Amino acid sequence: MVYARITGTGGYLPENIMTNADLEKIVDTTDKWIRDRTGIEQRHIALEGQTMVDLAEAASRKAIEAANIEAQDIELIILATSTPDKIFPSSACILQARLGIHGCPAFDIQAVCSGFIYALTVAEKFIKSGTSKKALVVGAEIFSRILNWEDRSTCVLFADGAGAVILEANDETGIISTHIHADGKYENLLHVPYGIGDGYDQVKAGKAFVEMKGNEVFKVAVNTLGRIVDETLAANNMMKSDIDWLVPHQANIRIITATAKKLKMSMDQVVVTINKHGNTSAASVPLALDVAVRDGRIKSNELLLLEAFGGGFTWGSVLVRY
Ligand code: UT7
Repeated sequence: MVYARITGTGGYLPENIMTNADLEKIVDTTDKWIRDRTGIEQRHIALEGQTMVDLAEAASRKAIEAANIEAQDIELIILATSTPDKIFPSSACILQARLGIHGCPAFDIQAVCSGFIYALTVAEKFIKSGTSKKALVVGAEIFSRILNWEDRSTCVLFADGAGAVILEANDETGIISTHIHADGKYENLLHVPYGIGDGYDQVKAGKAFVEMKGNEVFKVAVNTLGRIVDETLAANNMMKSDIDWLVPHQANIRIITATAKKLKMSMDQVVVTINKHGNTSAASVPLALDVAVRDGRIKSNELLLLEAFGGGFTWGSVLVRY
């Protein structure tokens, strides 16, 4: 049996920090509202001139170093993002060139906040089938560029960052199962309503911003993440108590707490970064994973449940023997 094992993680957050107090000066909000309703205290926002691939490159280099491999050893690059540097070529190709890699397949995945879970799922299939032995899987976003800084219902939530992992073929341990889903009927609850095909004038006017019916998204997210937990455990004949760590998408501390409660897990077993990172969309799960690996909480052989929910709607989970 061949598994896809995570052998290195990396994360990168832009140096520039925006606190809730900074946001109080921009929109009609309060530090208390943001903390109470979301759990966010601060977030990192890229400087002008920094691009998503800059963040992705920094995170990738750290993951490559942690895995103790050379960039040239990588046989597959998958980058999950909704905020690509260019319409084309894919940001994965731009990243590939930055890393000095030539010839291996490189492509983007667009599944918004579930993007990293989707990317990990696809990369695992390449490794399990023997097509690739080493893969770089990245989630990176620069959401600050698609936020309406006059809309308090969204601009206090999202942020910038990148996380990456190296996956390698391993005979003994690694990803145990992957579960991804989508339901496009929810398109209009969380979206950037304008693009090349629709509302191109708004794009040209620089008004292609995130819009979200937060309350409705919240309810579906809580229920859906509860179901994905059940699906993942049932598929593997496992019990809730088997899971050592929940590494959730960081959209709202109340959503994370609800999922932990569903798993009957103490919050000590949940990796929480939303307070410091905000919602970094596709970057949030690999960033959280990297934080808990580097601070020594997550240890070899532990069982991790990674999960996410996002625009589309898309959702999914990955069960990992680390
Ligand atoms: O990552 C992808 C998936 N995304 C999610 O899962 C996000 C899911 N949604 C949420 O996390 C929450 O719905 C939000 C954090 C976005 C909003 O929290 P909420 O408790 O659902 O608030 P709400 O939208 O029901 O708004 C409650 C009140 C409203 O005022 P009224 O109508 O009660 O007078 C809003 O206008 O809070 C107001 N409000 C704010 N007040 C201060 C909304 N945003 C703000 C704000 N500061 N930033």
